[in-house]
Amino acid sequence: DWTMPNYVDEAVAKIRAQVGQEEVILGLSGGVDSSVAAALIHRAIGDQLTCVFVDNGLLRLNEAQQVMETFSRHLGVKVIHVDAAAQFMGCLKGITGPEQKRKIIGREFVEVFQAESQKLPNAKWLAQGTIYPDVVESAGAKTKKAHTIKSHHNVGGLPETLRLKLLEPLRELFKDEVRELGIALGLPHEMVYRHPFPGPGLGVRILGEVKQEFADLLRRADAIFIDELRAAGWYEKTSQAFVVFLPVHSVGVMGDGRTYEYVVALRAVETSDFMTATWAELPHDLLGRISNRIINEVRGINRVVYDISGKPPATIEWE
Ligand code: XMP
Repeated sequence: DWTMPNYVDEAVAKIRAQVGQEEVILGLSGGVDSSVAAALIHRAIGDQLTCVFVDNGLLRLNEAQQVMETFSRHLGVKVIHVDAAAQFMGCLKGITGPEQKRKIIGREFVEVFQAESQKLPNAKWLAQGTIYPDVVESAGAKTKKAHTIKSHHNVGGLPETLRLKLLEPLRELFKDEVRELGIALGLPHEMVYRHPFPGPGLGVRILGEVKQEFADLLRRADAIFIDELRAAGWYEKTSQAFVVFLPVHSVGVMGDGRTYEYVVALRAVETSDFMTATWAELPHDLLGRISNRIINEVRGINRVVYDISGKPPATIEWE
């Protein structure tokens, strides 16, 4: 009889049998899949697991602290926190093309992760949060040589360069099963039911060149948007919601003076597969509250617009 507790026991036994006494490393992103994989593997082998969490400077507000809090303090998982923000920012200087930004962020991630893994010479396994849809998708991409519109390489190339054995305990699970498993393992509901976040993070939500100042403004605006969506019960009704930073100035008034500040766009979509999506019909009073809060609380932003484009022809992200 299939139940989640039985499944946890089975999965734990399988990991123990596979890994034995050897050590495992895992790139923890804070996303659902790597988080659940980390929690499951930790349940199975405890301190034989070391997670590497790379802060690329393109994460959401307080994200690094939250990940460290949950895994390191709450669950007692060994996590190495690498603050590589300056390195990523440096490499992105002057770069404006979306695909070029993705490539650089992907490449730097591999480099940072590799450097960290060399500090763990006893590790024999690389664990990844690959889930069933990823397996199917990449098989399809290989046979059909599918032309992907955007490159989605998060950890591409890692296994080859590290010469580690692959441990992928979520390979047979669908997303909703991964979430259930996460809850069974004691992960917070908020983490397990979080919207997806792209590997390149805010790097593809700041149009054009990524600058520290833009990332800081965007983080604060995005946190307000998500806060208000949660408070209004709309977070769960949308599949993905975020703020996009537009590096253009628009004119506004404040008190007696004119302002000349940045614009942000709100994006909220409903979708079942992320291949097609419709924009969410958020209530006007909610949109108004979000706009007021962002403009009042985030000095440097004086205009908020709402994205009413479907996919296709638009994509969910702006880059
Ligand atoms: P688009 O913008 O192509 O996005 O409609 C579809 C889904 O994919 C996510 N996305 C990415 N995820 N690396 C990722 O890991 C990427 O480079 C990337 N680009 C888009 C996007 O957030 C949405 O969920």
